[in-house]
Amino acid sequence: MKDAKTHWDDVYAARSPLDVSWYQAEPRLSLELVAATGISAAQPIIDVGGGASLLVDRLLDGGFTDVAVLDVSRNALAHAQRRLGARAASVEWHEQDVTRFVAPRRFTLWHDRAVFHFLTEAADREQYVRALRRAIPVGGHAIMAAFGIGGPTQCSMLDIVQYDAEKMQAALGHEFQLMEERAELHLTPAAKQQQFGFFRFLRVG
Ligand SMILES: C[S@@+](CC[C@H](N)C(=O)[O-])C[C@H]1O[C@@H](n2cnc3c(N)ncnc32)[C@H](O)[C@@H]1O
Repeated sequence: MKDAKTHWDDVYAARSPLDVSWYQAEPRLSLELVAATGISAAQPIIDVGGGASLLVDRLLDGGFTDVAVLDVSRNALAHAQRRLGARAASVEWHEQDVTRFVAPRRFTLWHDRAVFHFLTEAADREQYVRALRRAIPVGGHAIMAAFGIGGPTQCSMLDIVQYDAEKMQAALGHEFQLMEERAELHLTPAAKQQQFGFFRFLRVG
């Protein structure tokens, strides 16, 4: 079996980011949930497993000045950097596996759409939550989006773990308090529906 970096680098080398099943022309719900946190445009945000998502573009469009994107795949980040052109220089890029991420500084908001759900081993989930806790101080926010219960069981040919609010809460632990839960039916470029749950947490302890 390929390691995560090789798997994802191969995916982004073989396919246009416009064709992958997780492609969204607009990360509408993510932006709504970012707005719901009430953070200011100067506060630091990290999009974890951001891939070639347009979230970074839209955050910059919205005036956010301190945006970081982390992804295990160099090819994914290269897509986003090419698309952003000169604006890429104003973004902090981390080419890294999130389970080994030691944040160089604190972020006010952590966003993850469709990354945590790939962690099928408890040890990897624990490492992820450790990285999250290091990165986000009390008072900070985590927006987590994953396939919902009854949704797809695989993504990009990899098994995933499905989540509802209770399961996500248990995974993150009592330091994080669920503030909001939203469901979304994502329509893939191949016109398949995928059931997602979005969960907005506040770090309280
Ligand atoms: C399904 S895609 C979602 C991309 C993006 N969040 C979006 O909503 O369009 C999953 C992304 O997570 C990245 N990824 C997968 N496992 C990872 C890991 N362990 N650490 C960091 N990034 C990872 C992949 O390279 C890919 O870009």
